[in-house]
Amino acid sequence: MATGQGLPQEPESIPDGDASASRTAAWYRHFGLVEAPGSSPCYAEWTVGLADDPQLIARIDQWPHDKRQPNLLLAAARYLGARVGPYKEFRQFLEDHWADISRIVLSRSTQTNEAGRCATLLPSLAAIAAAEGRPLALLEVGASAGLGLFPDRYSYEFDDGTSVTRLSPEEPSRTEVEPPVLRCTTAGPVPVPDRLPPVAWRAGIDLNPLDIRNSDDVAWLEALIWPEQEFRLRRLRQAMAIARDEPPLLIAGDLNDRLVDVAAQAPADTTLVVFHSAVMAYLSAEGRSRFRSTVRQLAAARGSHWLSNEGHMVIDQEDGSSVVPEVDPQLIAGKFLLTHNGIPEAVTGPHGQSLEWL
Ligand SMILES: C[S@@+](CC[C@H](N)C(=O)[O-])C[C@H]1O[C@@H](n2cnc3c(N)ncnc32)[C@H](O)[C@@H]1O
Repeated sequence: MATGQGLPQEPESIPDGDASASRTAAWYRHFGLVEAPGSSPCYAEWTVGLADDPQLIARIDQWPHDKRQPNLLLAAARYLGARVGPYKEFRQFLEDHWADISRIVLSRSTQTNEAGRCATLLPSLAAIAAAEGRPLALLEVGASAGLGLFPDRYSYEFDDGTSVTRLSPEEPSRTEVEPPVLRCTTAGPVPVPDRLPPVAWRAGIDLNPLDIRNSDDVAWLEALIWPEQEFRLRRLRQAMAIARDEPPLLIAGDLNDRLVDVAAQAPADTTLVVFHSAVMAYLSAEGRSRFRSTVRQLAAARGSHWLSNEGHMVIDQEDGSSVVPEVDPQLIAGKFLLTHNGIPEAVTGPHGQSLEWL
């Protein structure tokens, strides 16, 4: 494993033909030039710096493929105390802490839990509850800490450019915690509800559920928020306070292995909604296909609904596959596609900031 003392035979430049290093450098460059600018100038500078740094790219390349993700390295560094600043200082931090960074990268994964995404799911959830006339049972696969399971506990502001619709929970939380206000711009005929849908049961499945009562997990969730996005950090803390009021049922396991048995626990007098955001990119093409087939069987057997809110590509998959091949990637460039039972419904902001109804 790489250490802060330097690696033997670190290349000065990426050797011709070293396809893996070139690919990793390109991944970081794309992150720095396309994904980070506009959201985090600091991450943009750091990842472009890394892309041009063959010694560090060679170290990153010693990690398994799925651990080379820019977000994971950046979060590990910030979890360990890296401060916003010029690339030169960040690079020194990496040199000084490489062994610990490797340990965190290899033991953690990107589990960003964005409560803001509830804003883009809310109109669909409310429409399902209204059409079925029964309270919802929410089952989120890839739930992280489960903050997406509380759409009925958050407040919302939907802004179509001419007017703002505000929605708040009818019953204040038992601990009187201030709910986060999830702000979302809308375009097209978004069916903004006039009340929050009733939720009778909620559960999540995750390979590694994070516990909002565990300080290490909380520190990791906070490190996953990009620097300069203070409003997201505030929102995360408010959502965690809501979830602490009623910690959700979170089951550890692979979503493909656990979906059917966890779904069977949902009360019979509810409408089951299986949903996910920013998860499918972590699965292989085979895993995604298995999931689609299970969720469809569940719908046929139980009348459940399926909401998918996914980007075209989050993780550079080894098999080169994409996540939502059924639409032109240009349509959702940089955004997510929301589908209901497999039918495209909206293009959504990746953190729930916008909702364009199709
Ligand atoms: C980027 S996070 C998104 C969390 C949450 N859905 C949200 O939108 O805030 C992806 C989550 O999916 C989980 N995950 C990835 N592959 C999984 C699998 N095969 N089974 C269960 N969970 C998985 C990860 O552990 C991680 O917590």
